[in-house]
Amino acid sequence: MNSSSVNKKRILSGMRPSGKLHVGHYWGALVNWVRQQDEYKCFYMVADWHALTSEYADTKDIESNVREMVIDWLAIGLDPQKSVIFRQSAVKQHAELFLLLSMITPLPWLERCPTYKEQLREVTTRDLSTYGFLGYPVLQAADIMVYRADAVPVGEDQLAHLELTREIARRFNNFYGNTFPEPQALLSQSPRVPGIDNRKMSKSYGNSILLSDDEDAVRSKVKQMFTDPVKIKLNDKGHPEGCVVHAFYKIYIESHEKRAAECKAGGTGCVACKKELSEALITALKPLREKRQVIAKDHAMVEVILKQGNEYACTVAEDTMKKVREAVKILG
Ligand code: TRP
Repeated sequence: MNSSSVNKKRILSGMRPSGKLHVGHYWGALVNWVRQQDEYKCFYMVADWHALTSEYADTKDIESNVREMVIDWLAIGLDPQKSVIFRQSAVKQHAELFLLLSMITPLPWLERCPTYKEQLREVTTRDLSTYGFLGYPVLQAADIMVYRADAVPVGEDQLAHLELTREIARRFNNFYGNTFPEPQALLSQSPRVPGIDNRKMSKSYGNSILLSDDEDAVRSKVKQMFTDPVKIKLNDKGHPEGCVVHAFYKIYIESHEKRAAECKAGGTGCVACKKELSEALITALKPLREKRQVIAKDHAMVEVILKQGNEYACTVAEDTMKKVREAVKILG
């Protein structure tokens, strides 16, 4: 680890291990994770305990999902020389802090959490009426606080969790003395990346374009992308705002405004647009895919990176826990 990183502010962020990542993960979070590596001391965590809060009944894929996700992280440029890349379940201090925080977290704070209410309503394939699922944000608070992180890069959807973390940190400090900073949200603007069917891009919807998709997969997915439903013939006037292809153009093709104007005027058809998008996507994803293949072959390398990251994370987390145990007056 670079010694120059000692005085930098700390950030922590995590993702549940969902296997191979898609371009929504990339634009929604990972581009920023990569950028932040020079400015901050970064802790990037595979949140495998968090995965268990909903996937507890079937854990057979966790191991391979962790590995595939870390391979994508490395391929897009997370650098173990700069950042601590680790796995949550390797750092037991998260669990210890989670236990202590659960003592001081009022139930109503958790019950009124919007993500909790929404998931309970929406998810029908798994039973989420568990103690662990309710405690999801408390575990997340422990993740952040155990590194005394100053900031957390998050998407909008995680803001409620971060606010809870701040409230829990404040409550802890009130009871036991000033131990934790109140972490700030590092919200960055990210482009909207819809799934090919115009819903939110998500593995479970089967509508995602993976960072590791090859040329054929990209072409076939772009072909299936939803476009303006009232533009049927080439010369019909189109409405780029609601078109998935256009959303991708804005990200991957510089001259997107010109093409949108042509579309509105009925000057181009969707087939031509899709062809150009496929080629641009293939060109953008190719270097990642190639890098990914090299990393994936080196099984030991991923293991070593995680092992070193885990050890480093443990040292920092243990340092915090010493202070915490002293503050709470319990044994280590
Ligand atoms: N809840 C986050 C998500 O679903 C994952 C996560 C777990 C996390 N612990 C975290 C994110 C700590 C930021 C900080 O994406």
